[in-house]
Amino acid sequence: MRILFIGDVVGSPGREMVEEYLPRLKRKYSPGLTIVNGENAASGKGITEKIYRQFLQAGANIITLGNHAWDKREIFDFIDDAKNLVRPANFPEGTPGKGITYFTYNQIEVAVINLQGRTFMAPLDCPFHKADELIEEARQRTPLIFIDFHAETTSEKQAISWYVDGRVSAVVGTHTHVQTADNRILPKGTAYISDVGMTGPYDGILGMEREAVIKRFLTSLPVRFEVPKEGRTQLSGIVIDIDQKTGKATKTERILINEDHPFFE
Ligand SMILES: [Fe+2]
Repeated sequence: MRILFIGDVVGSPGREMVEEYLPRLKRKYSPGLTIVNGENAASGKGITEKIYRQFLQAGANIITLGNHAWDKREIFDFIDDAKNLVRPANFPEGTPGKGITYFTYNQIEVAVINLQGRTFMAPLDCPFHKADELIEEARQRTPLIFIDFHAETTSEKQAISWYVDGRVSAVVGTHTHVQTADNRILPKGTAYISDVGMTGPYDGILGMEREAVIKRFLTSLPVRFEVPKEGRTQLSGIVIDIDQKTGKATKTERILINEDHPFFE
């Protein structure tokens, strides 16, 4: 089973990259499951129902979220009915939506879990204990388990990957928007990357207009961040191959598409 994951899609530049390259990536890699992190898809913060549906239309099967999940208020109107949308599972009991979902391809079931880190982030429930709980639940159904760990620090991301090594197929980090070159398979079979990277503006700062970000550093005053409307764009992702009997990862390949790293069919 091959999984294609596209990292944090930022605003319309990111969505346009998904529209343009997702069909080509699917032709090249023929994934059984395609996952897109969409928490920044609506003008950099949150997601709308229309965008969620556009991602599915473009070829995504599951959309994951993160700390910006709630930034567009309409999320509360559709999240409970959005079958293929997962938000971090370690939000408190009673939070709308769900943190785990299942996808079936060719009679192979994959569990997709979204978790959020707590270091330099909101004080949610413990992602490690939540992972234990959800892995146990998922393993009743399938050994193929994928985790999008949306977190700020590489240490928390590495820690959770070693903690679940051998119990899940993959842990991919999201949120920091810069692709890390540390994709690997841990000794017991869990594929790992600290951060998949961002899909959106290539010449901004983490996908936002760089002038505003620089101004905040220079003045320490609150500055409104916007997604640049024009300019060069990029797509970041990863392809992970999983043995469908054991659930262990067998191969990882990073994807980075921008003017400095052109795409080859
Ligand atoms: Fe985030």
